[in-house]
Amino acid sequence: MGEMLRLENVTKIFRYGFLGFKFRAVDDVSLSLEDKPSIFTIAGESGSGKTTLARLILRVFRPDFGRILFNGRNIYEIGDRTFYRNIQPIFQDPYASFNPMQKPIRYLRETVKNIVGIEDEREIDEYIAKTLSYVGFDISVVADKHQHEFSGGELQRMAIARALLTKPKLIVADEPVSMLDASFRINIVNLFKKIKEEMGVSFIYITHDLATAYYISDYIAIMYRGSVIESGRSEKVLSEPLHPYTKTLIESLPIPDPKQKKLWMQKKMAFTASIEEAEFILKGCRYVYRCPYAFDKCKTVMPPYITINESNVRCWLYYK
Ligand SMILES: Nc1ncnc2c1ncn2[C@@H]1O[C@H](COP(=O)(O)OP(=O)(O)O)[C@@H](O)[C@H]1O
Ligand SMILES: [Mg+2]
Repeated sequence: MGEMLRLENVTKIFRYGFLGFKFRAVDDVSLSLEDKPSIFTIAGESGSGKTTLARLILRVFRPDFGRILFNGRNIYEIGDRTFYRNIQPIFQDPYASFNPMQKPIRYLRETVKNIVGIEDEREIDEYIAKTLSYVGFDISVVADKHQHEFSGGELQRMAIARALLTKPKLIVADEPVSMLDASFRINIVNLFKKIKEEMGVSFIYITHDLATAYYISDYIAIMYRGSVIESGRSEKVLSEPLHPYTKTLIESLPIPDPKQKKLWMQKKMAFTASIEEAEFILKGCRYVYRCPYAFDKCKTVMPPYITINESNVRCWLYYK
């Protein structure tokens, strides 16, 4: 089975201030998505570099080091039309996805015209109607609506319909449910599963919420301060986590036992923001300050990936 998407040592550096302080928002990330419909979750807390990684895949940012291949080709060697036909984004804020001055349907029509290449207006609407009905909308009902007449969940479904219009192979969804009411979230997540199964579309599903990741994903990568510290089949990673950070995350999933929960809260509160900044510029493992198992080498050298139990992990514990 071939690879659909491959990230090789992808790094993105941001510079701050006139002294040019540099930090790696995404640091040496290598990942691979097989060419078969699947949901690949990228999980990590806020600020861990998830959106930057999504933007690298979507060609918003160019990597400073490393490269990204789609079907074996560097994404920068692919023509715009082919690229956006194949890889479509869904953003966190559904209101920001649509211009408030225009009816959302207009964006769908433009997508069909510019990327799919249909010119005739009636044909365009016939094409859109099918996709809209797939996500549960009647074109005659939504065509005249303005952005503010949709709920957040409905607008996100419009964004999904728009993404589907080009018949993409991959949808990159950056925290697509985090701004929605809880009651809409499960609908959207179920819709992704259905699209994967029925249309054969793969997803990069970005989230800070491991509970939905548990439910939705085939593969998962855990990010911490810009680096992917563990990745693999999600049932493996989530049931037999290897990296100490992954273990902490899984322990922190909502657990019924209040005594355990309290312990977790205490652990989490114990860390300060200043540690976070320092972690981004560490030479060694980013997790070293928090890790109960850390030893000297962890401070100075970032461990390479090692495959254990089918998962890829970056932790010196597994080199002993
Ligand atoms: N365009 C940018 N310029 C400078 N720094 C940025 C930019 N975008 C993100 N960052 C910084 O990079 C880090 C990772 O951000 P981001 O990728 O948005 O993380 P996440 O999506 O996981 O919350 C953060 O410290 C953020 O402040
Ligand atoms: Mg983000």
